[in-house]
Amino acid sequence: MSNKEEMRRIEEEIKGCKRCELWKTRANPVVGEGALSARILFVGEAPGYNEDLKGKPFVGKAGNVLDELLESIGWQRADVYIANVLKCRPPGNRNPLTDEIRACTPFLDAQLELIEPEVIATLGNFSLAYIFAKFQLKPEKIGKIHGNVFTVSTIAGIKRIIPLYHPAVVTYNPKMKEVLIDDFKVLAE
Ligand code: URA
Repeated sequence: MSNKEEMRRIEEEIKGCKRCELWKTRANPVVGEGALSARILFVGEAPGYNEDLKGKPFVGKAGNVLDELLESIGWQRADVYIANVLKCRPPGNRNPLTDEIRACTPFLDAQLELIEPEVIATLGNFSLAYIFAKFQLKPEKIGKIHGNVFTVSTIAGIKRIIPLYHPAVVTYNPKMKEVLIDDFKVLAE
C-alpha cells in the first residue's frame, strides 16, 4: 500500500470511529493535513469550533498564529504535517479526557509511523504530555523546556522532539508571540 493509500485508510477509520463519545457531538473529524513526506510533524491538542466545521486542523485564530509563525521562518503548511492528539472536538473546547486520549492516540501513532518525521513539534500541554510519554521522556512543564530539543533513538531512527507553546496562547497574551518566534527559529535550524 502506498503512503497515500495508507493515510486514506487511516482517514476512513477515523471517520467511522466510535471508540469514545466525541463522534456524537462532532461535525467533522479532523484527521490532519500536510505533506506525507514532511520532515516535521506538529501535534496540536484537538479540533476547536472552526476545525470541527471545516474538518481541517488549525483554521481558526490559533491557526492564523501558526501560519504567521511558519511564515516567520519561511515555511508554509505544505512543508509540514499538522495533526492533533484528538481527532474530534471536545464539546465547548473542554480539555481532552484521559479515556479520549487513550482511545484516539492509536491514530496519531499510525500517522507518526507512516510519515516518520525527523522532528516532532508539540503544541501545548496535552501534546507535550502524550509525546513525552510515548518516547519515554520524563514529564516536564512547558514553561521550563519550550524551545529545547530532545533527541530520542527509535527503531525508525533518531527523532528530535521540540516542545512549543500552543499558538492559542498568543490570542490571550500577545507578548508570547516573541517567545514562539524564538522557538520557531530553533525549529528552522
Ligand atoms: N487547536 C488545536 O490544538 N488543534 C487544532 O487543530 C486547532 C486548535
